[in-house]
Amino acid sequence: MAFSTATPTAYCSRCSASNENLLPSSPFKIPRLGPSFWPWEKVKMGPLTVSPMGFGTWAWGNQLLWGYQEAMDGDLQQTFDLAVRNGINLFDTADSYGTGRLNGQSERLLGKFIRQKRVRGDIVIATKFAAYPWRLTPGQFVKACQYGFAASVTLTQHTLRLALHLFSELNWSSLDRMQIEQIGVGQLHWSTANYAPLQELALWDGLVAMYEKGLVRAVGVSNYGPKQLVKIHRYLKARDVPLCSAQVQFSLLSMGEDQMEIKDICDSLGIRLISYSPLGLGMLTGKYTDSRLPSGPRALLFSQILPGLEPLLSSLREIAQRRNKTIPQVAINWCICKGTIPIPGVKTVKQAEENLGALGWRLSSDEILQLENAARESPRKMIQNIFQTR
Ligand SMILES: NC(=O)c1ccc[n+]([C@@H]2O[C@H](COP(=O)([O-])OP(=O)(O)OC[C@H]3O[C@@H](n4cnc5c(N)ncnc54)[C@H](OP(=O)(O)O)[C@@H]3O)[C@@H](O)[C@H]2O)c1
Repeated sequence: MAFSTATPTAYCSRCSASNENLLPSSPFKIPRLGPSFWPWEKVKMGPLTVSPMGFGTWAWGNQLLWGYQEAMDGDLQQTFDLAVRNGINLFDTADSYGTGRLNGQSERLLGKFIRQKRVRGDIVIATKFAAYPWRLTPGQFVKACQYGFAASVTLTQHTLRLALHLFSELNWSSLDRMQIEQIGVGQLHWSTANYAPLQELALWDGLVAMYEKGLVRAVGVSNYGPKQLVKIHRYLKARDVPLCSAQVQFSLLSMGEDQMEIKDICDSLGIRLISYSPLGLGMLTGKYTDSRLPSGPRALLFSQILPGLEPLLSSLREIAQRRNKTIPQVAINWCICKGTIPIPGVKTVKQAEENLGALGWRLSSDEILQLENAARESPRKMIQNIFQTR
């Protein structure tokens, strides 16, 4: 199944979240009228229908890179609620998201927010299963997903209380953590083809088993390069398992030959490309400069890339001003115009509200060209994920 990436161009000033912010200050807040995009802009992804943009939740539990604290949970719940109210139904997470004892926190929070908002049916959770070295068989991969570990613990909790404590929540499955009936998209977080080809086959069979058991509605991959993508697609197709999505780093800072080749393959095979890090981890928001860096490990990366980023940032700024948009809205809109589903990471209600303003309108082809020419002037691009294969 192949599909065209062309979707009708629409400017939806009625409901763009950003427009609300641009209204002259008034004591009255205009109520939201619904989704920030037109119904026909929804995207088919295998058997699922999703919003033209999802939200990423890597930061929800990650202290090291993103400075997460449990005190943020209330704000994150409001962020989730705002997204859902505005028609966003795709949320990306992973079983490895969350640092230390908070491992799995992103999945736990999503599950909790879904239950509290009572919106199970329509929400598509796309979680990623890590290709940990101890997940060596299809059965072990299925265990990473399915209910069960928590139930067995309940039965034997008196004798195993201490062991459970030591064992930590690392061993719980994604469905245990989220407490939902079924996962929308079960994605392989990365390929082991480069260093453990036999494990790779077991993981593929694990994905097949998850799908056949109905634990996931569709399957996807992440960090797969063009060659591996074609191989896994063929393998799954032979087993009647449709590959619905491929997730790669895709942004104005990550638009190399590989990304474009992956996009072409996706289009010809009917796979949706999900753009991760569409804001270049925050560099494409315009709020960081080489003298105003984020705290933590991002500072080192940003200090190398940001000095050469001025041509791109000024193009983004110029287009944003002309369009009455903001820089992140333009950067995200570029990903949509390239026919991908961006999943910007959001940490606050304000960021989610602003990013919703990337929907309901389209950059012109001249603006796209202007941005891409400016991006090519940047001497340094994003570092690719170490797990990205060819
Ligand atoms: N498959 C994979 O291997 C993989 C790898 C990476 C990411 N992902 C997925 O993709 C998602 C998005 O990527 P990402 O989080 O790496 O990077 P990103 O989307 O490029 O950047 C997100 C960060 O930018 C800042 N931000 C977002 N919106 C903003 C706004 N409107 N104004 C100002 N700042 C804003 C926030 O951080 P600050 O406020 O701290 O600057 C936010 O956490 C992740 O959450 C994850 O779900 C997948």
